[in-house]
This record gives sequence, C-alpha cells and structure tokens, in this order.
Amino acid sequence: TAITFIEDNGTTTELDVPDGWSLMQAATANGIDGILGECGGSCACATCHCYVDELLMRMLPPPQPGELDMLANVAAERRPNSRLACQLKAGPALAGGTVTLPPNQE
Ligand code: FES
Repeated sequence: TAITFIEDNGTTTELDVPDGWSLMQAATANGIDGILGECGGSCACATCHCYVDELLMRMLPPPQPGELDMLANVAAERRPNSRLACQLKAGPALAGGTVTLPPNQE
C-alpha cells in the first residue's frame, strides 16, 4: 500500500507498506525520523503521533478508546486529524494516503 510520509522539515518519502503493518512500523523500519514509536506499538507512548490527510480520515476506522486516551498526551499540537500511527494498519483502502509528522514527539 503506497503511503506518503511528510516530515516536519519537508522531507517526503513514499513507502510501499505491507498489508497489516502499522504505519509506525513502516516509518521506523525505513528510517523516517518524525516517528519514534517508543512503546513498540502498544499504544502507550504517543510518540507515533501523526496528522492524516482527508483520504485517510475517510478510510480509517475511528480511533478506539485507548488511542483517544493517548492522543490526549501527544507532545505536539493535537488536531482533529491527529492519530497514532501504530494504530493505523495498512491495507488497500489506504493506498495513496499521506501522513504528516509533527515537529516533535516528546
Ligand atoms: Fe507508542 Fe504508538 S508507538 S503509542
């Protein structure tokens, strides 16, 4: 699934994310600096905060209560399109989506 990651400094990387991988896994495995993923994806650190584009807003399932709880703890500004990348699983419906990364994660 083609997903584009835009870091706060403008660096743009398009990745082909295997289905079932989280966007946090894909970003950290490919050296994208704007996502830390300190808890390894268990929705306990909020260092995988990202802003999703309109396509992803439409296609992603809404955040579960655990993700909403952690979104209250993000370091950067929380916006209506804030999500935790470890909770976003790649699949065909997300193809062509873009996530923008905040200036800081902690
Ligand atoms: Fe820790 Fe997403 S990697 S909350």
